[in-house]
Amino acid sequence: MTLPNKNPTKLKAWGKLISHYNSICNKSIYSHFKNEKDKRDYCFINWEDFYVDVSKNRWNKKTFDLLMNLAKEAGLKEAIEKYFNGKKINETENRAVLHTAIRKKSNSEILIDNKNIIEIIKYDKSKMYSFCDEVISGKWKGFSGKKIKSIVNIGIGGSDLGPSMVTEALSYYRNKLNLVFISNIDGDHFSENINKIDPETTLFIIVSKTFTTQETINNAEKIKKWFLKKTKASGIEKNFVAVSTNIKKVKSFGIPQENIFPMYDWIGGRFSLWSSVGISICLSIGVKNFKKLIKGARSMDNHFEKTPFDKNLPIILGVLSIWYNNFYNSESEAVIPYCEYLKNLPKYLQQSVMESNGKSVDRNGDKINYQTGTIIWGSTGTNAQHAFFQLIHQGTKLIPLDFIGFKKPLHKDEKSHKKLMSNFIAQSKALMLGKDIGSVIKELNSNNIESVEIDKISPFKVFDGNKPSNSILIDKLNPYNLGALISMYEHKIFVQGIIWNIYSFDQWGVELGKKLADEIFKDFYSKSKEHDISTENLIAKLK
Ligand code: F6P
Repeated sequence: MTLPNKNPTKLKAWGKLISHYNSICNKSIYSHFKNEKDKRDYCFINWEDFYVDVSKNRWNKKTFDLLMNLAKEAGLKEAIEKYFNGKKINETENRAVLHTAIRKKSNSEILIDNKNIIEIIKYDKSKMYSFCDEVISGKWKGFSGKKIKSIVNIGIGGSDLGPSMVTEALSYYRNKLNLVFISNIDGDHFSENINKIDPETTLFIIVSKTFTTQETINNAEKIKKWFLKKTKASGIEKNFVAVSTNIKKVKSFGIPQENIFPMYDWIGGRFSLWSSVGISICLSIGVKNFKKLIKGARSMDNHFEKTPFDKNLPIILGVLSIWYNNFYNSESEAVIPYCEYLKNLPKYLQQSVMESNGKSVDRNGDKINYQTGTIIWGSTGTNAQHAFFQLIHQGTKLIPLDFIGFKKPLHKDEKSHKKLMSNFIAQSKALMLGKDIGSVIKELNSNNIESVEIDKISPFKVFDGNKPSNSILIDKLNPYNLGALISMYEHKIFVQGIIWNIYSFDQWGVELGKKLADEIFKDFYSKSKEHDISTENLIAKLK
């Protein structure tokens, strides 16, 4: 077995964490502030343009040390080495996991089956960069000789969420190319978007690692048919390119070899935005900015690989999340960027986190009896405050949050940025401190409310507080810092998967539904299978 294989609940540190939990679970976050005047040691981390404050959590230095021991005992150090060196740690698919290789400097070396993949990456990247330069400059023309004005990315899951999140996040840095993403097999998604497109000046990018994904291939076939009918063009080679590992299938679709940008089996779809899968990103922000995005991710890779555990951002955030998930039985985590540009970040993280760590069998193949993958959800602040924050403040569930914000805005209105960020700080403070009954009564009294009314209304105005959050404050939203932020979350996933003793880089759980959908689709036209009564009825309603 390539990775360490240890049941976390049998580790010494886990046992100690249970008794430690019992001793501190009734203490408030704020009480730790009082007892530990100087939390600088472990709670405030400065790294490049990042300032990460993990002080507002239900933990103290002892918790921190025990969680670090847990990571060490689980064999995280050895696992990190194997991850970065290209060992086949995705054992259920017999693959290495090397989205970090694509971010390495071009003079590095990583051998896979005796080939230095850095050389392969270098070659493929330079092809992608020249292509992007040609499209952006207008040198690359569509079939009728016109410049490309729009890009349509056809892909789903990792072949959509990364590129669409990053291009949205970096809108400020984008050129004039218009961007459209078509992912859903829902015909409405296709028809709503296709009407806005002029086929003569559009470049269609079909992104599918396997080139067998039903949604993508269905949409691509439809678009090809629509394109040929509309344009009467003799071929698609000037307006269609593909990103895939399945060269044979792409060619039989009608896309020539020179229009194929390769993918690799050692990069999972949900970690692939750095590769040719990110071609729409590169086209829309330009090669220079795309390189900065990668550089930022590389810097976080180095931080994760080389920094001692107790100063290591992905490790600290990873173990903290395990603390809530496995000891406080908290089921979900909210990600709240105080930045409209990052509105798709929670959606993107849902795939990368939940597809990776939503597993219930350990690395021995045995069913596990502890909780794994957290549920990720969220939305931008301040919108989220006016939507679901009620439940976080006064509901019954414990939902740790990541607040993400920027010191400097991209616009010039400093004052509105300060207003936004005062909400960022206020929310984390309010969640931690809450408001007790005494303060509620005092406030009502000072407003001259009658005492009968005060008795009646005061319980509803109490905030228990003691709700944990991390504050991730970054100097500025730019390609470099965004690359580092995404990479930080990628490595957090890795840390958690290692400690939970699961395989984070396969996704067998999505297969069953795909197979059944194929069977059911056939049944709409000619019945070939017996189903349960519920399924039979639903099929009948749609026939
Ligand atoms: O069904 C899940 C999944 O396999 C994801 O892991 C992947 O990102 C997505 O489908 C798309 O796959 P492909 O790039 O092969 O079309």
